[in-house]
Amino acid sequence: MKISRIERRLAREKVASAGRVHWFDTIGSTNDFVLHREDYHATVCIAGEQTAGRGRRGRHWQSAPGQGIYLSMGWDLGGAPAGGLSLLCGLVVRSVLADAGVQEVGLKWPNDVLLGSHKLAGILVEMSAGRCVIGIGVNVKLPARSASGTAVAAMPATGLVEHGYDIDLESLAANLIVYLNRDLETFMDEGFGPRTAEWDRAHLYHGADVVILGERSVRGRVMGVADDGALSLDTAEGRRVVHGGEVSLRPSAESR
Ligand code: BTN
Repeated sequence: MKISRIERRLAREKVASAGRVHWFDTIGSTNDFVLHREDYHATVCIAGEQTAGRGRRGRHWQSAPGQGIYLSMGWDLGGAPAGGLSLLCGLVVRSVLADAGVQEVGLKWPNDVLLGSHKLAGILVEMSAGRCVIGIGVNVKLPARSASGTAVAAMPATGLVEHGYDIDLESLAANLIVYLNRDLETFMDEGFGPRTAEWDRAHLYHGADVVILGERSVRGRVMGVADDGALSLDTAEGRRVVHGGEVSLRPSAESR
């Protein structure tokens, strides 16, 4: 990846991340790199390969060379509440892909990015001592076994190349950084509230009957997301609100 091209674009856009992009051919985890920097705000790390890429729920994120974009960006929320942040990032990834011509991308609460029923991208937001790091992995060209199986995540994965997309990865990475900068500035002022309707429209399970697997499973119909990113469900016992964390949404057997 040509970082100079990305840097030129960031400078033109005058975003806070201009001059703050670090590239590594190989690294443990781009999220770790940013988390451990003093000057983490708007700092971006992109790698050709991750040897210890992390996914949500303690999973490994397969990050071999040429298989994906591995990008992290730090942000100082300055004490602003972080509720809904990871959902906002899902909207950012979806917009960037849509602007690159990948139109049929949907979201799955809380922050999976799907193409058809397969996972195209994942988002891992980590907080440590008031620091926030947003990690994004976009599948580009997966080996055949991951594309059809479950090696990348708990759901089958797919990549852009398999769907016939030949996308300029530098401009995709640059757009991720530019859109994140723009949307995070607004998020700090307004929170996630103004984006909930957009998120519900993009949610592949809006109005569907689902089961949320967690410490205690919840079965119900998806009614929408709240200002803090929680998911509202209509259940047999009435309205339930589920927060992110160690939960996983599955279509309910009856709705399949
Ligand atoms: C998920 O499980 O869906 C989240 C995957 C997040 C992967 C990205 S790749 C760049 C960044 N660095 C990491 O170690 N993880 C995230």
